[in-house]
Amino acid sequence: MSFVDSYLESYVEINHEGIALPEGLRLEQREEGLVLVGEEKRYGSPLSVDFAAGKAAHRRRFGGGRGQLIAKACGLSKGITPSVVDATAGLGRDAFVLASLGAQVLLIERVAAIAALLADGLKRASRHSDTAAIAARMTLRHGDAAQSLVELVASAHFTPQVIHLDPMFPHREKSALVKKEMRLFRELAGDDNDAPRLLEAALDVATHRVVVKRPRKAPPIAGPAPQHTLEGKTSRYDLYVHRSLVR
Ligand SMILES: C[S@@+](CC[C@H](N)C(=O)[O-])C[C@H]1O[C@@H](n2cnc3c(N)ncnc32)[C@H](O)[C@@H]1O
Repeated sequence: MSFVDSYLESYVEINHEGIALPEGLRLEQREEGLVLVGEEKRYGSPLSVDFAAGKAAHRRRFGGGRGQLIAKACGLSKGITPSVVDATAGLGRDAFVLASLGAQVLLIERVAAIAALLADGLKRASRHSDTAAIAARMTLRHGDAAQSLVELVASAHFTPQVIHLDPMFPHREKSALVKKEMRLFRELAGDDNDAPRLLEAALDVATHRVVVKRPRKAPPIAGPAPQHTLEGKTSRYDLYVHRSLVR
């Protein structure tokens, strides 16, 4: 069991010293929660996960419910609420939307510092009356889903009906043009160039479908072609129906 998982199981303090970070970045436990801090000029405000306030709270209340693209892509409809593995959890925004709509969600994140921020956000969400029931539907595992998806799903005793993937899309624009908070995140997450391998692993494990979030104009992940696509204003979902369900 990794230190992040043991932290989650017992809600004890995380040992930040144990997490390797790129030079110039550090994790700090502040009164408001765990934050990732970098030089302000380059990285702007510290990064943290807060499900009870800000954008997450706004989207929970006014986001459009099951009419949202992510809900349609994952197959949430009236009376149907699949269990979803978010195998590229990041800061948990998509996972939180799905859990807000009633889905059980297993979040998998491979970067230890990001998993630690998520763990801290989930801990605080579980103590807040607006978000406690939602957080109770969210389980976090720290690990690499491209390499150990079967083991991670089994360790959480989770039924992987739908697998949601949102790998980082390699960006070409110069870092000066990238929003500061994205720079911090990218510094940690990198480019996810192994996305084709992750897609293969997900197709082996999902019992119903795999859904992949892409920038609207980006090509699909290399590998088998998606059976369907759903297009939104800025992003697109590529849908891969489970092999046994394709006629
Ligand atoms: C674009 S972000 C996801 C953002 C997320 N959808 C959200 O709503 O906050 C991609 C994340 O997936 C993680 N990731 C990529 N490949 C992974 C893998 N094979 N296993 C686990 N995490 C992975 C990256 O470290 C990064 O944090």
